[in-house]
Amino acid sequence: MRQALAQGEAAASAAASTPGAASACTPLPGAPVNESGNASGAVHPIVVKGVTKRFGDLQALGGVDLTIAQGDFFALLGPNGAGKTTLISIIAGLARADSGRVSVMGHDVVTDYLRARTSLGVVPQELVFDPFFTVRETLQISAGYYGVRRADDWIDEVLDGLGLTDKANANMRALSGGMKRRVMVAQALIHRPPVIVLDEPTAGVDIELRQSLWAFVRRLNRDGHTIVLTTHYLEEAQTLCNRVAVMKAGHIVALDDTEALLTRFSTRALVLRLSGGSLPEALQARRLPDPVGQSAEAGQPGLSHQPGEAGQPGLSGQREQVAQAGQGAHAGATGQAGDAGQPGLATWPADGRIRLALDDYADIGPMLAAIQATGATILDMEIAHADLEDVFLRLMREG
Ligand SMILES: Nc1ncnc2c1ncn2[C@@H]1O[C@H](COP(=O)(O)OP(=O)(O)O)[C@@H](O)[C@H]1O
Ligand SMILES: [Mg+2]
Repeated sequence: MRQALAQGEAAASAAASTPGAASACTPLPGAPVNESGNASGAVHPIVVKGVTKRFGDLQALGGVDLTIAQGDFFALLGPNGAGKTTLISIIAGLARADSGRVSVMGHDVVTDYLRARTSLGVVPQELVFDPFFTVRETLQISAGYYGVRRADDWIDEVLDGLGLTDKANANMRALSGGMKRRVMVAQALIHRPPVIVLDEPTAGVDIELRQSLWAFVRRLNRDGHTIVLTTHYLEEAQTLCNRVAVMKAGHIVALDDTEALLTRFSTRALVLRLSGGSLPEALQARRLPDPVGQSAEAGQPGLSHQPGEAGQPGLSGQREQVAQAGQGAHAGATGQAGDAGQPGLATWPADGRIRLALDDYADIGPMLAAIQATGATILDMEIAHADLEDVFLRLMREG
């Protein structure tokens, strides 16, 4: 795959130009050697600088800066209307920014459009296809559009990689939505671009298709392709992507390595299901808001593992089942029932689940002991970790 891709005509012609040739800037001392490169002179696949875009009164992009590095598997996240597709359209040269600059593999998307465009494969959010052609014909037309010669072997490889081989001669209109989506991915790859942008490629695609699509895209990434992905499935972003940008109302509100972002927002919670008893006063301050939709309790969001919020499949959460029904909970028990128990506030939510901030695993024993001392029975217990959805929800709620 790597060889096949590296030898692609379009990729080769794009690579033949001098990296960063589009840049006319004088480098600042200590700054990258060219505006789309890093200090070592390598070209960053995508550089976005100060990009704004208005649609009438609506500021769709309010000054976006973004650099995507070679080999990144980059997630562009944000709620509907955040500006993701608008940004991608500008990167792909399909829409013009009102101000700012964008380069792809060092080629300015306006002044060096053709080279920028051939460096990029875009899988658009909307399904667009001609119902009268077969899958193979559709790909042959795309290859022709990009001037790719002798495309048949590569078309076969892409069909195979995307599980489309047995649909090669099917008419586009006969395909399911998921299969059409795969053809669009194949179309985006047909000129073997070094940078691949997927705009919600898995929306409405069933799990099996999603998994094979990701296996293929992962392989492309391993082979050296830079991947940019927008998705509503935060779990996908968390699993696949090494770097994440979160957009909100036309601005990037977070940009970091996935791990760093999770660490920065890291919170752990001891999730208990209880019956009877009460929450000791000493633990009241540790109480975290219940997951969205489970309680009217307001406050800053803590860990949230409510999948399906706003109809979007979310994360189930990475949880460690640590104990069942209070086994081991007695380990740290000290007092007799009622002894440490404070009166009142015994009302657990309907499902009996409460969430307590957990800074240190060593706190678990004393916490459980104090709760049991009020006469509460521990029905279930688990530890929840922050995931990308928690980070996302927090960023969306903060100003
Ligand atoms: N062609 C257009 N004309 C007018 N408004 C648009 C157009 N394209 C996008 N918008 C608006 O710009 C905002 C950003 O849209 P979009 O980039 O599609 O967001 P996202 O992809 O993050 O959901 C939205 O409010 C959307 O309605
Ligand atoms: Mg969009």
